[in-house]
Amino acid sequence: MSRARVAVLISGRGSNMMSLLEAAAAPDYPAEIVRVISNRPDAHGLVRAEAAGIATLAIDHKAYADRESFDAALDAALEEAQVDIVCLAGFMRLLTPGFTQKWRGRMINIHPALLPSFKGLHTHERALAEGVKIHGCTVHFVTPEMDVGPIIIQAAVPVLEGDTPDTLGARVLAQEHVIYPAALRLVTEGRARIVENRVAIDEFELAPPALVVPPAI
Ligand code: GRF
Repeated sequence: MSRARVAVLISGRGSNMMSLLEAAAAPDYPAEIVRVISNRPDAHGLVRAEAAGIATLAIDHKAYADRESFDAALDAALEEAQVDIVCLAGFMRLLTPGFTQKWRGRMINIHPALLPSFKGLHTHERALAEGVKIHGCTVHFVTPEMDVGPIIIQAAVPVLEGDTPDTLGARVLAQEHVIYPAALRLVTEGRARIVENRVAIDEFELAPPALVVPPAI
């Protein structure tokens, strides 16, 4: 089996990156992580990736005059590593339209909310402030507009009485670690096809029960 070559782009602690590395350690997983790249040289995720034996690279965005030159360096590093698919995992840089266009259909992102609700930052605080009863996370293809591209997979979690952004965020993060490897598998196996602005999933069988919060009993 030839495995897709994947780069994971991070800016911080890298827990989603670790979930991808752990999934890719299984012999039947269709992707291998060939590079972990950070725009922040001090990202803790780089240390974790190195400890896992993955080739890492820091491309410090502060060393570049503008977004175009940073994205050109990033693109060159991806090409040099013969990357097929890019996973953004807590990568806190806006990418230029040219870069996102080039990697269209081959670059995915994880967002800690049920898109299209709560795009951007501080999603757990905002979900609590809005009083939603169900929150969650989304993996989607990356397009030029932030947090907008075709949705591949989502997980929903209940919002509980007394939740804080930290407790809710931890519940969401646990599901991020489930759906990101699942999404990468779907994309790598060609089972997540972009049809206009949505994703069609082939061979989709499972029908989970609805999540109702509070339980309708
Ligand atoms: C995650 O919540 C992810 O959804 C968001 O940034 C956070 C990164 O966390 N895009 P980690 O670095 O993967 O632990």
